[in-house]
Amino acid sequence: MDTPVASPEARYPWAARLSPRLLKSPWWIGHIPFAYELIARQRPRSIVELGTYSGSSFAAFCQAVQEAGIEGMCHGVDLWAGDIHMGTFDEALYNEISGYVNATYPGIAVLVRKDFNEAAKDFAPGSVDLLHIDGTHTYEAVSNDYHTWFANLSDRGIVLFHDTNVTVQNAGEAALKFGVRAFFDEVKGRYPHLEFEHCWGLGVLFVGKNVPAEALELVEAAKDPSFRKYFAQKGAAVSRQFEAMGVPLPKHGAYPGTGSLAARAVGKLRRIARRLLGNARPA
Ligand SMILES: C[S@@+](CC[C@H](N)C(=O)[O-])C[C@H]1O[C@@H](n2cnc3c(N)ncnc32)[C@H](O)[C@@H]1O
Repeated sequence: MDTPVASPEARYPWAARLSPRLLKSPWWIGHIPFAYELIARQRPRSIVELGTYSGSSFAAFCQAVQEAGIEGMCHGVDLWAGDIHMGTFDEALYNEISGYVNATYPGIAVLVRKDFNEAAKDFAPGSVDLLHIDGTHTYEAVSNDYHTWFANLSDRGIVLFHDTNVTVQNAGEAALKFGVRAFFDEVKGRYPHLEFEHCWGLGVLFVGKNVPAEALELVEAAKDPSFRKYFAQKGAAVSRQFEAMGVPLPKHGAYPGTGSLAARAVGKLRRIARRLLGNARPA
């Protein structure tokens, strides 16, 4: 008799179980179910996010750490000054997310208001288990972030790259400034990896020699197309939840020196988000 195949809910219980507490923007949230599953399996003692903005991905990491009972710290690094893709934004953005994480995740969440290169000096070599790179998305910036932080990764280290699937087709002209795809293609052959196409793409690189087996087995699982389909469906459910909430996005100004280009890129991303999310009303 054939052994029955376990359902995805049984195989990926954390992705199925956790429901996000904070959804503030549409661009990353489709990866929250995978982030829960990965964190529960890897049990990172230290998570660093480069690019926290209004906190959707950062809060998801904190929630996973808390609910999985992991003794881990999450650091969200950002200048909250904007970049060439996002333009500038109001100080209220930082005040809101810092108020939220300090109240909700004391002892788990720390925000670091510094340039990524400066912040890298505050972390001991070999101390970071999970690094999320989601700052400026040019090839040069992503390459710099990866190489600057690489020595800080532990032997259990995993790196997440958001926006590996930003194309002219799904993002218009703004995509021309994005180099995450090119950088991920360059490094992925060196390490076990997996990748999602939905929600503008997420590349996952398992760089450490001693990544826990429960996390590493996701690389094998991802070879089955049903894996990506399942996480894309779970991600789409989060996007629908966000849509139903009608969250207004913060207003962005032009980034000094690159004004019209940045404003056009932000406008384009908002139009795409509106198209994907129906009436989610990105500002
Ligand atoms: C795409 S947003 C991050 C989105 C966020 N992960 C989320 O889930 O909504 C990128 C952020 O990176 C920040 N940033 C870009 N380059 C930076 C740098 N070199 N140092 C510090 N912050 C930077 C910007 O201020 C912006 O808030």
